[in-house]
Amino acid sequence: MRSGIQWTLIISILVAGFLSTASAAPDADGAAVYSKFGCQTCHGGHRGGTSRGPSLRSVATVWDEKTLPVYLQNPAAAREKNERLQKLSNRYAPTRMLQFEFKDEELKVLVKFLLQNSKSSSTQTKPAAN
Ligand code: HEC
Repeated sequence: MRSGIQWTLIISILVAGFLSTASAAPDADGAAVYSKFGCQTCHGGHRGGTSRGPSLRSVATVWDEKTLPVYLQNPAAAREKNERLQKLSNRYAPTRMLQFEFKDEELKVLVKFLLQNSKSSSTQTKPAAN
């Protein structure tokens, strides 16, 4: 009898744990893609930047869900057309933003994660030359 109650408890804890991760999935997946590709090496574990790459905490002030995936898939091409990116990139030279091969789903959740965890344009502090 006693072990039956224990099993019921264990199973409900497992189900509750599964449900809570399932509902947090889009954000958690984006964070997983971020660490899988090693973005933290240059942008920091909390996206606050390092000596190798800028902070990503206000990317939503200059990128949106249409432009960010284009940049992430080909940063060099975006730099050529974008003076702000050239200046930003030169600050970290010779380190440059790398080009990655993302699966569609990875890119989607990553972009969502980056934009969601970013300041909105109302709190913008630097000029948006994008
Ligand atoms: C080798 C270091 C390095 C790695 C690894 C790296 N980045 Fe970058 N990233 C940079 C540098 C340097 C820049 C500055 C702009 C440039 O060089 O194009 C940058 C710029 C960016 C920007 C534009 C920021 C802005 O203000 O417009 C975004 C967004 C970004 N990186 C996201 C990522 C993501 C997501 C990953 C992982 C998939 C990643 N980076 C991995 C170095 C890196």
